[in-house]
Order: sequence, then C-alpha cells, then structure tokens
Amino acid sequence: MIRAVYPGSFDPITNGHIYIAERAASLFDELLLAVLVNPEKNSTFSVEERQIMAREALIHLPNVTVKYFNGLLVNFMRQEQSRIIIRGLRALSDFEYEFQLAQMNRQLAPEIETFFIATDAKYSYLSSRGIKDAFRFGGTVRDMVPPGVYRRLRERIPPTNS
Ligand code: PNS
Repeated sequence: MIRAVYPGSFDPITNGHIYIAERAASLFDELLLAVLVNPEKNSTFSVEERQIMAREALIHLPNVTVKYFNGLLVNFMRQEQSRIIIRGLRALSDFEYEFQLAQMNRQLAPEIETFFIATDAKYSYLSSRGIKDAFRFGGTVRDMVPPGVYRRLRERIPPTNS
C-alpha cells in the first residue's frame, strides 16, 4: 500500500490543486493532503477552514484524506509512514523554489522522494494569492475555485473599489 502526501498552504485550495490531487490519487493507493499550519499566522483562512474547504473539494476522491501538519514536513511524513511527497509544477518559474524544497527535504530525510506533477495548461496561471487579489479587486474568479471556496471568499474578503 503506497501512501503519498500532497503538502501545501492551500489558502485556499484552487482548481489547480484539485487537478494535481486527482492525478496523484489515481497513481497511489492513498493520498494525504497535508495543510500547513503557517507559523506566521498570516493566512487568510484558518487551518480548520482550509481543511474543510479541501475536504469538500475532494469528496469525489475516496482515497484522499485531509490533515494538517506543524513544523517539518519530513517529520509528518515519517509519522504518517509515507515516503512520497507530491508537488505540482505550473511553470519553469516554480522549479527553482521546488527544487530547493526537494533538496532540503532529501537532506533532512534521504528515504523520502519528491514527485512533481505538471499541471494542466489551463491551470498554469492559478495561485491562491492571485485568486484572492483578483477577487479583492472585483475580478471574476468563480471558475478558478470550487463553489465552497468561492462562497467563503465572498464572506471573508470585502470588495475593494480602488
Ligand atoms: O503551498 P506552499 O506554501 O507552496 O507549500 C509549501 C510547503 C508547505 C510544502 C513548505 O513550506 C513546507 O513543507 N513547510 C514545512 C516546513 C518544512 O518542512 N521546511 C523544510 C523544507 S524547506
């Protein structure tokens, strides 16, 4: 039984994240989506809200579970008995950061492997931050996030006119 972990901030989960989770869930027996508890506490949504939104969005994938983690990812991986980290790649610009993350994790835990999944071209521009910014200034983001996230964005982020 192979369990993979898909870590991230997921603040909030986007259609791009869902696509990566779907691809990973089809490749491994179990996928654990792991929501980082940001120590800086500057996230838009609490870790509970981020988990709820992710669970709602991934309900169609029976082998996916959602948990949170604190501190080092590799410690969480060991605790969950997983040796595979899943990360999505949107563009070459993601690569430098992702490669550094993978190298750091390998240094910390050589038995753990990072797998990269390329996003679909139609999601290559999507990011949680971009969606929140666009929403704040009145942009149409309804097609970029699942309905539960869209509803919570409307509740959480007041529109700005400038
Ligand atoms: O969605 P994000 O913010 O790009 O995800 C980044 C994440 C959560 C994968 C990364 O910040 C992380 O693993 N943080 C936990 C702390 C850690 O293990 N750091 C060592 C590797 S640099």
